[in-house]
Amino acid sequence: MIEVSDLSFSRSDGDNKLAILNELNLSVPAAQRLALLGDSGSGKTTLLHLLAGLVQADSGSVVVNGQNLSLLSEQELALYRRKIGLIFQHYQLLDCLTVKQNILFQHQLNFPEQSPTELNQLVSDLGLTNKLNALPHQLSGGEQQRVGIARALLNQPQVIFADEPTGNLDQQRSHQVVKLLTELCIERQINLVMVTHSHQLTDYFDQVKVLKDGRFE
Ligand SMILES: Nc1ncnc2c1ncn2[C@@H]1O[C@H](COP(=O)(O)OP(=O)(O)OP(=O)(O)O)[C@@H](O)[C@H]1O
Ligand SMILES: [Mg+2]
Repeated sequence: MIEVSDLSFSRSDGDNKLAILNELNLSVPAAQRLALLGDSGSGKTTLLHLLAGLVQADSGSVVVNGQNLSLLSEQELALYRRKIGLIFQHYQLLDCLTVKQNILFQHQLNFPEQSPTELNQLVSDLGLTNKLNALPHQLSGGEQQRVGIARALLNQPQVIFADEPTGNLDQQRSHQVVKLLTELCIERQINLVMVTHSHQLTDYFDQVKVLKDGRFE
């Protein structure tokens, strides 16, 4: 469950403060999915970064599964960040690693003492079984994003934040990827917050919020 209360964030612009997000309120019940829309520059990525504990709010709170991020120590925040799943527009795969190595890499860094429990099932669910030894440049855009999804899901996160994961895909592939991602989140009871520019993808979500100049419409 994700709860955002009166959340504000600004950046300093020389001597001035530039307000980016203004007193946002948001509640995503456990296992539900939120689509975040808004024009370029409206603050979508900034909000995702606040939810992911990558930046600190000026005021207000972000509470994820009972943890108030602004009350966590640096060490607790680092642990929180390891347990969430992140998916990006440009996939952020490592070119010199195979699909399998890309999926496992972050998990091995974060949890070197644990072996991942569900690699085979996940890879099969995402239709990547025959691609495990391929390099990223040998994959289509949709396949590369499915690798990004597998990587994010491997840690069995309770929340996933996805920043325009279909921004590089055509319409048909976008639907396939979002359908698959939302189905996996439903099956695994994962909270999903996904930024998108496409109103056509919002049917897969329980809730839709539109940001305009740092406020919800
Ligand atoms: N590092 C930064 N320093 C200063 N201003 C920034 C920085 N990052 C973002 N901004 C500003 O914050 C505002 C919100 O940016 P943000 O990246 O959250 O928008 P967005 O909704 O994700 O846009 P897009 O759809 O283009 O990705 C913009 O006005 C942007 O110029
Ligand atoms: Mg953005």
